[in-house]
Amino acid sequence: MRIEDILYTQGFGTRRVCAGLIQQGFVRVEGHVVDDPGAGFEVQGLRFTVQGTEWGYHDKAYLMLHKPAGTECSQKPSTYPSIYTLLPAPLRQRPNKGAVQGVQAIGRLDQDTTGLLLLTDDGQFIHRMGSPRHHVPKVYEIGAKHAVTQGQVDRLLAGVVLDDDPKPVRAAACEATGPSAMRLTLTEGKYHQVKRMLAAVGNRVETLHRSSIGPLALPDDLAPGQWRWLEPAQVDALRNARAGQP
Ligand code: URA
Repeated sequence: MRIEDILYTQGFGTRRVCAGLIQQGFVRVEGHVVDDPGAGFEVQGLRFTVQGTEWGYHDKAYLMLHKPAGTECSQKPSTYPSIYTLLPAPLRQRPNKGAVQGVQAIGRLDQDTTGLLLLTDDGQFIHRMGSPRHHVPKVYEIGAKHAVTQGQVDRLLAGVVLDDDPKPVRAAACEATGPSAMRLTLTEGKYHQVKRMLAAVGNRVETLHRSSIGPLALPDDLAPGQWRWLEPAQVDALRNARAGQP
């Protein structure tokens, strides 16, 4: 693929901007400046630098982010900074069918919720992860306002009715992890679901953290605000995960 097209597909701007970066000597492959926009490279495994920052070629982008508290999952946040400001510009500018679209979060977490969030520019992957047939278990660590009782755990496992839907929602798994702490696993994602479920059993969420999505756990060494590319095996494991399986 031409280096100009490589930069374009990876989100470095319009083809004209990419050609400019190349002609000005800002792009290097294997340590050598590439100043011809038409120079061709095999993209598989390609690593290159743009203005000193190293990148790898990714046909599609799949990332995990440790969402910090006080951020919104919206592109146009109302009160808090957007999670998208935590990502480098090329990830926010990757083109899709000619338009700048960038990576999108797969589902949303509330502004005060922390933890694992997946992002991608693969529309099919977003669709698959969101489909009810595929709903993979998501594990939440809850700090509660009041003591967690076995009665609350039992009710969450049996199913509780939320105000907008007569059909009960139930936790796929639930256990107390401390006097006022709980681990809850859900296979669906209704609006404010964890907070509403806790309220339905007479408790209240004070802190909420998502620790895993299906087979993928938030790594201990990924600090709040940091992001990382997913390994191809992790993407495959998520794609093949089934509802009800960890
Ligand atoms: N449930 C909630 O109430 N909030 C979240 O952010 C995620 C799940």
